[in-house]
Amino acid sequence: MCGIVGVVGNEAAAPILLDGLSKLEYRGYDSAGIAVRNNNDEFTIVKAKGRLKDLQEKTNDGLAVPGTCGIGHTRWATHGEPSEINAHPHSTDDKNVVGVHNGIIENYQELREKLIKKGYSFYSQTDTEVVVKLVDYYYKKYNIGPIDAIAKTMVRVRGSYALVLMFKDFPGEIWVARKDSPMIIGTENGASYVASDVPAILKYTRNVYYIGNHEMGRLTKDGATFYNLDGEEIKKDLVEIKWDAEAAEKEGYEHFMIKEIHEQPRVVRETLNTHVKDGKIDFSEIGLTEEVINSVTGIYMVACGSAYHAGVVMQYVMESLARVPVRCELASEFRYRNPILDPNELIVIISQSGETADSLAALREAKTQGIKTLAIVNVVGSSIAREADYVLYTLAGPEIAVATTKAYSAQLIAGYLLSIEFGKLRGHLDDAKYTELIKELETIPDKITKILEDKERIQWFSNKLANSTDIFFIGRGIDYAICMEGSLKLKEISYIHSEAYAAGELKHGTISLIEKGIQVISVLTQTDLFEKTISNMVECKSRGAYSMGLTSYGNYSVEDSADFTVYIPKINPLFAASLAVVPLQLLSYYVSIERGLDVDKPRNLAKSVTVE
Ligand code: G6P
Repeated sequence: MCGIVGVVGNEAAAPILLDGLSKLEYRGYDSAGIAVRNNNDEFTIVKAKGRLKDLQEKTNDGLAVPGTCGIGHTRWATHGEPSEINAHPHSTDDKNVVGVHNGIIENYQELREKLIKKGYSFYSQTDTEVVVKLVDYYYKKYNIGPIDAIAKTMVRVRGSYALVLMFKDFPGEIWVARKDSPMIIGTENGASYVASDVPAILKYTRNVYYIGNHEMGRLTKDGATFYNLDGEEIKKDLVEIKWDAEAAEKEGYEHFMIKEIHEQPRVVRETLNTHVKDGKIDFSEIGLTEEVINSVTGIYMVACGSAYHAGVVMQYVMESLARVPVRCELASEFRYRNPILDPNELIVIISQSGETADSLAALREAKTQGIKTLAIVNVVGSSIAREADYVLYTLAGPEIAVATTKAYSAQLIAGYLLSIEFGKLRGHLDDAKYTELIKELETIPDKITKILEDKERIQWFSNKLANSTDIFFIGRGIDYAICMEGSLKLKEISYIHSEAYAAGELKHGTISLIEKGIQVISVLTQTDLFEKTISNMVECKSRGAYSMGLTSYGNYSVEDSADFTVYIPKINPLFAASLAVVPLQLLSYYVSIERGLDVDKPRNLAKSVTVE
């Protein structure tokens, strides 16, 4: 987590750094800081605890910090509490080296002790201060340049880092190094930029370099040069980013989350249009051939958070359409449980950012065991995208709100397409069914639009939930998977305790918690399971629950057991998650607003979880 940004050019750096950090706040927001060099080559370091706006105020929106070369950081605390002293940038006492860092240095204690013995002292509890001082130590001890000092440090530290440094002796230059934490370098019109993620610099450039693991770089206003661990220069190609700069702005919406909820019809359409040509799924660019698809004996869907919930939906859909055994697992569990994998299995890693530490580690574990890997990823050029054997991109564009909405929706579409293609090629879907399913997918964007048109009803209902302490979501099959995502959305941004329960499991525990006034949201989109879930709703209602039903138009009997009913357009039940999730996203959003919370930046969370 944490967001880093740096710029060297002809313009004032501080406003660009603050603007970039505002796009990266989703990565962490307990404190922030910038370091800028003025015309006399002196460093000014300003830090503030709390949100970025505190730093903006403290620096008069950057105007109070002159200079054209600088670095910035927004923090999600790992080592040391959120405080001004622990905020980045960190520096040596003589300001010889100043740096920001995203990642975790695992052996920082040992290195700290070593440096103390060499005469260094530490003012913060961070691992970053240690790494900055270690670079300084090698730099001075061997009297070597920045690249050699950084390389020696990289060999000595264990863990992950995107490190951005400035050296007193090298004005107008920024030095970077990377292992496992995201970092991109942009360059355009006499300026170079570095950032954790594309939205931070999209306003300034679309031309970026992806810096690899164990690589370093030197940025000047004229461009960037890259080096390997041996200090040899390496060549990199510039990649053009296709995202619109506006995509990372709110465009009149009050929050990114509501904007992103409204973008779902477009995102779904674009993901479909990219992978469906003339009514047929086309995975030729992905390299996923018929031979590969037919050789697969089983699939693991591996992911974290909402991406895991998308995987749970895919598990049902894939097994139903392609009759391949699928197991969906949390990446953090998968990677450490020594999984028994068969060489003919396929590991599908699902990730919006493509940088989630556990998902990336699960991918690497699979590759080590020689298993084929396919990534469903949103961020082009991200670590997971680069390391997987096959990549199926979702076309969600930049997602800024911490709680995912449109990326989850795009992941579902990718999963449906994969399932249909597997079903077809493995002989479980005939041409007519194949065409019918694709046509059905194409109806999703308009149906989501229709749900969004009715959002005022959800907004009204959110008043009733705003003071709740516990909310239960129940459903069966895919409805259970939808409940998992609805419940997560609610707890993420409204801080209301909530649980998703397989409706059939209610009687094995949760029902003891149901008493007068407890809210229960039942999802009933699966025709086969409708009656069963209705019975569970009734069981809750007769114990005093206040009940909401979420079902498809036509299922009006839900109203007999619900205090409030939300309808979604009819759709093949296999694809119902794409519609049913939308009212639940809206509900969480409005409950959060009702409670006066920071919707886009919920406490303690970060969007891109690059630590374990
Ligand atoms: C965080 C985010 C979630 C996301 C999860 C996995 O917890 O807040 O929205 O689902 O990470 O992230 P990924 O980028 O791998 O999809």
